[in-house]
Amino acid sequence: MPKTIKLDPIGTQVEIKTEDNLLVALLKNDLHVLQECGGRGMCSTCHVNVTAGMDALSPLNRREIRTLEVITTANRYSRLACQARVIGSGVVIEVPSGMYLHQIQDNLEDLVGTRAHQDILHPITAEVLVVTGKLITRSIINQLKNTQLSIKNYLSENQEI
Ligand code: FES
Repeated sequence: MPKTIKLDPIGTQVEIKTEDNLLVALLKNDLHVLQECGGRGMCSTCHVNVTAGMDALSPLNRREIRTLEVITTANRYSRLACQARVIGSGVVIEVPSGMYLHQIQDNLEDLVGTRAHQDILHPITAEVLVVTGKLITRSIINQLKNTQLSIKNYLSENQEI
């Protein structure tokens, strides 16, 4: 039987199959989800807050618990959309705001001297790397490049896990 998921704050509803994960609902609604780890429960880029219907989701698995422990914005309503399967009705989810570092399409160099138009987030920990409105300097760009590199290394080292 299909299940209806409500997405806040946009207020739309999406139908997905029972046992599909929440990522399916996000992608069905054309929400761009970076899926930095490829849906393996290792990053924060599919992190959502479940504002209703937590009981209608599959229980947290070990990997999800471990990953949520390092996400700085995680709270008791947090789930990783790629890991949470929908088994009941009444689920409402909210996507945290901000742009993940790897979502930046421009060459990072082009951002020098501009102001961040939204928070730039770390794709593994969701830590805010640059706050909205902050002037992006060369040293910030160098830090972002180093961060990109360490994320790449982290994901390739944990590929087999
Ligand atoms: S896509 Fe990485 S944890 Fe879900």
